[in-house]
Amino acid sequence: MKDFQFKNTTDIRFGSNRIETELHDAVAQFGPNVLLTYGGGSIKRSGLYDSVKKILSDLNIVELAGIEPNPKISSVREGQKLVKENKIDVVLAVGGGSVVDASKVIASSAFYEGDPWDLVLDSTKRFKMKQLPLVDILTLSATGTEMNAGSVISNPETNDKLGTYGPNTPAVSFLDPALTMSVSKWQTAAGSIDIFSHLTEQYFDKEKNNDVSDGMIEGIMRTVIKWAPIAVAEPDNYDARANLMWSSTMALNGVVRLGYQDGWTSHPIEHELSAYYDITHGVGLGIITPRWMKFVLSAETVAKFAKFGRNVWHIQNDNDQVVADIAIQAVYDWVKSLGVPTTLPGVDINDDTNFKVMAESAVKVGQLDSAVYVDMSVNDVVDLYKAT
Ligand code: NZQ
Ligand code: ZN
Repeated sequence: MKDFQFKNTTDIRFGSNRIETELHDAVAQFGPNVLLTYGGGSIKRSGLYDSVKKILSDLNIVELAGIEPNPKISSVREGQKLVKENKIDVVLAVGGGSVVDASKVIASSAFYEGDPWDLVLDSTKRFKMKQLPLVDILTLSATGTEMNAGSVISNPETNDKLGTYGPNTPAVSFLDPALTMSVSKWQTAAGSIDIFSHLTEQYFDKEKNNDVSDGMIEGIMRTVIKWAPIAVAEPDNYDARANLMWSSTMALNGVVRLGYQDGWTSHPIEHELSAYYDITHGVGLGIITPRWMKFVLSAETVAKFAKFGRNVWHIQNDNDQVVADIAIQAVYDWVKSLGVPTTLPGVDINDDTNFKVMAESAVKVGQLDSAVYVDMSVNDVVDLYKAT
């Protein structure tokens, strides 16, 4: 197990009816000038927007609407202008991961004179600066952004989709599972696959004998596998929504990765798909993850895959190779059962023109040729795209 340091200061407010009584003070503690950020309108349709405006009616609210899925740097630039012009004290993000991600970079850009894309390209800049406090109301279970310091921002001009990290996790995160009942079947499936992929990225690690992290991850994997199909079939099932919401947070708030080397593979490969074709992140991961598993399965890795098969999928067989093969097929079948495509043509990607340049970028950004569970070359990544 590797040495580690861990600190996470996000104040989690989990459960229904907390917003009514706790949101006002959670926001007002930072000052009266609030930038309210949100997406394309789901919070207006659900009535959440009206509730928030009513609860905060004595504060000065400036709004940034229209933050898109796979959030674009243009939204961050707009936000930077608003926080500076209005002397904003706190950013309140209401929405899914895209809204929260963009808001974190806006919170940093308040203290930056240049173009915020600089902050995405070089996160070290953000650690030398202050960052406005961020309060969020999460409406979609997937990314873990509600309790981590990461954001993923796209720049359509350069076909980049890059991760960036700041010094702070959100100050306060409101996690009300009932708010996720209106999430579509597509986004529920995608979010669940995203959670599952965060867990596989961390679980399949070069570090051996980290039974604490392995055990926590296996438990969260079983939770997501069990409750995702129920949430897809019964959107109003509170237990399903609650289990997915807390899984989303726990999968990527930094706890379960402790002691691992933590090199990720499927995410850098998927981020290229989203950058070039603007597809839903979790759906891309559903296509990539089982194929990546097949690629990395070998005599060196079979024991870990067998552990995964026995502890997560309850497969009973003495032969590690048999268990590993059944487990990978089970991942594929689970993704398919959630009703999302499992091939690239299924998400309208029908030609391989960009695969080489995408693979080069994935290998560079993710250090896939040196810092991950099983190293991958550019050609390996191209083969993986073509295999799908
Ligand atoms: O824009 P609105 O109208 O709000 O609609 C959104 C959007 O169309 C809708 N939605 C959200 N909550 C809803 C709802 N619809 C009905 N009812 C609700 N309660 O869902 C759509 C997708 O929203 P988005 O925020 O894009 O989804 P998600 O939370 O999956 O975020 C995806 C983004 O996060 C990044 C991804 O790459 C992608 O850009 N990631 C961020 C990470 C992080 N910060 O740590 C890690 C992840 O691996 C991931 O890369
Ligand atoms: Zn993800």
